[in-house]
Amino acid sequence: ILSCSFSTSVMSNAIKNVTVVGAGLMGSGIAQVAAQAGNSVTLVEVNDAALQTGLGRIKTSLQKLTKKMSKEEGEKLLDSTLSRIKGSSKVEDSVGQSDLVIEAIVENMDVKHKLFTAVDKAAPPSAILASNTSSLSITEMASVTNRKNKFVGLHFFNPVPLMKLLEIIKTVDTSDETYNAVEEWGKAIGKVTIVCKDTPGFVVNRLLVPLLAEAMRMYERGDASPRDIDTAMKLGAGYPMGPFELADYVGHDTTKFIIDGWHKKFPENPLFKPVGALNKLVDEGKLGVKTGEGFYNYK
Ligand code: CAA
Ligand code: NAD
Repeated sequence: ILSCSFSTSVMSNAIKNVTVVGAGLMGSGIAQVAAQAGNSVTLVEVNDAALQTGLGRIKTSLQKLTKKMSKEEGEKLLDSTLSRIKGSSKVEDSVGQSDLVIEAIVENMDVKHKLFTAVDKAAPPSAILASNTSSLSITEMASVTNRKNKFVGLHFFNPVPLMKLLEIIKTVDTSDETYNAVEEWGKAIGKVTIVCKDTPGFVVNRLLVPLLAEAMRMYERGDASPRDIDTAMKLGAGYPMGPFELADYVGHDTTKFIIDGWHKKFPENPLFKPVGALNKLVDEGKLGVKTGEGFYNYK
């Protein structure tokens, strides 16, 4: 049911130079799909080691995509995509030529505010700024910039090269011009776009995160094991991954940031109540697939 774009053609869209800040699970995928579609991409990380990890992730993903191609075709896609990505550890030096800057760093408003304050100063006035946040308010994030009309949410899904959806979050300040440019860009990189108001979790996470939390509560009550709950949701509801597999895949730090943030803002909502099993895993540094252990062991 999933397909992916192998486009290597240079796009006609006005957005050609893209800076992606954060080369973790999401930022590396976003950089990859933009470069695959012909954008010149600058990928920014906190240091060279993190950058190399992100670039390594892109290479592995491209190798998965190209394994069914002829050797020549596969090598061409891999080389041309990688050649369009350059790395940096200084955000101020990485946005001077950008048409679009996409942030995919830690899910924390203060950290994101600090980043966007710096980006807003260094990027050309024409550049569109976007966040890949899973749960934070785009309006609040844009408030530290002087270009609220050029600020938008671009919410991708993990794994970015395979998941076809791109949620575009339009705030009351986002101009139609900005929206149209990112919608066109989203299509040019091979995604299906939907538009959503700036509400907690937008569409997918507002439905998905409470489901993950409820599955963990079910396990805490001793109703069923993670393995059986996963099997139930895969075979009984047609999900490609069960809730525990998916939570391990998303990363428990990200899910905890989401739930804690919503609980703080909406303490009365029972769907957003903190989950003991999730907090315990984060305390133990068991963040899921990315650290080798979560509800399951990947080592
Ligand atoms: N890059 C490129 N190719 C990849 C890849 C990646 N990162 N990951 C897997 N693949 C390829 C594999 O090589 C494999 O290729 P072949 O079929 O050619 O062999 C193919 O994709 C299928 O992979 P697998 O056999 O390993 O596993 P699968 O069939 O279960 O598919 C999956 C993997 C697409 C991830 C699927 O399990 C799935 O759709 N899971 C649900 C993912 C999901 O719900 N994501 C959203 C999370 S929520 C979110 O992202 C929002 C947020 O803000 C938290
Ligand atoms: P991650 O932990 O895998 O990656 C975050 C990366 O950002 C790290 O490599 C970190 O070193 C880097 N970083 C932190 N501060 C930085 C800075 N100031 N400058 C440059 N790099 C910096 O996290 P992730 O899962 O990729 O999530 C990133 C964002 O995307 C979060 O806002 C998250 O909510 C959102 N998101 C996550 C998922 C998911 O499934 N994990 C899906 C959609 C959206």
